[in-house]
Amino acid sequence: MDAIDRAEPGLERKAAALRAVCARHLGAGPAPRVFAAPGRVNLMGEHVDYVGGPVLPIAVDRHVLVAARPRADAVLRVASARLGGEERHALAQLPAAARGGWDDYVVGVARAVAARGARVRGVELLVGGDLPTGAGVSSSAALCLATCHALEAAWELALAPAERIEVALAAERDFVGVPCGPLDPSAIELARAGHALWLDSWSGAHEHVPWGLADVEVAVVHSGVERRLAAGAYRRRVEECARVFDALRAEAPHARCLAQVDAEALARAAPRLDATLAQRARHVVSEVARTRAARAALVAGDAAAFGALMTATHASLRDDYEVSCPELDALVAAGLTAPGVFGGRLVGAGFGGCAAFLLATGARAAFAESVRARSVSAPEAWYVRAAGPPREVA
Ligand code: GLA
Repeated sequence: MDAIDRAEPGLERKAAALRAVCARHLGAGPAPRVFAAPGRVNLMGEHVDYVGGPVLPIAVDRHVLVAARPRADAVLRVASARLGGEERHALAQLPAAARGGWDDYVVGVARAVAARGARVRGVELLVGGDLPTGAGVSSSAALCLATCHALEAAWELALAPAERIEVALAAERDFVGVPCGPLDPSAIELARAGHALWLDSWSGAHEHVPWGLADVEVAVVHSGVERRLAAGAYRRRVEECARVFDALRAEAPHARCLAQVDAEALARAAPRLDATLAQRARHVVSEVARTRAARAALVAGDAAAFGALMTATHASLRDDYEVSCPELDALVAAGLTAPGVFGGRLVGAGFGGCAAFLLATGARAAFAESVRARSVSAPEAWYVRAAGPPREVA
């Protein structure tokens, strides 16, 4: 992987493209300031962040961009360069609840930033960028963080990274109402170019792990399935995890969250657990172990071991956690047949969206060919680098 990409020259081009359409979407006005936040691919630690487990994501070099200009009135105006729509809200009366629109995340962030004592005043935002939505690469957290950085600049507030993560979580959990864990905003806000992030979701402790896999890169491929039913199913998984943790407490008195339950305690309790709940716990407990092993493989530069763990995670998400779908399974199976591919799995919440693969840099052509030949939707592969955190783009 050509991992160190500190300057991210492509980002300047993306910002220039957004600036160029600003007048078309917002009308004449002052030159905007542009802020960018990357997406993320979670390499390991899937569906364990909301139960206190470790995660190992990278930020990727596709971004949500937000161009911001001041307004004379006390209005928050939000337009989308991709969708073409626009919304206006009086800053004194921002909606108190999500309305199911694409700007819910922006409003949720505006409320959370305002609540932190910002000098709130009129602002207009144009949202753009090249990060796909609904693909499992965290476009909603990227939108929240690009918006947060833009509003901090407009409203003269300087938040610390941990506060921005809280703002993004407030927007997503409290305002939009998805009971997600800290993975997505942490992966983005704490990203370091050329590194994966190791985050303990229970304590919040994190470290940057250098990308130690020489001549190895990550490919992301869309399954062609939009994640439509994901929100309800995601909420059910969160509830099932809470129930199974309650059922396991007696066997694991030292565990403060499901991710801290060990395999022996789970094995002792398994015979009296509901079968579905036992499967959910088995995914969590095994994924925690795989994520620790993957970190060791990354440090050791062992791509084969890392890839095998990714593939095992896919099986666990498919069979025990039941968040895959036939198209994702077919895509992963297709990618794994190519020489030079070390492993692959669905990424993000599942139920559609993307799969990620670990492959030798020389394996691109064979990989792309086998994915195209064997999967349903003839998808394009996208090769990602471990990108840096959100920033203003000059
Ligand atoms: C979504 C959520 C994250 C995490 C992943 C699954 O992306 O927003 O908090 O739970 O699913 O690992």
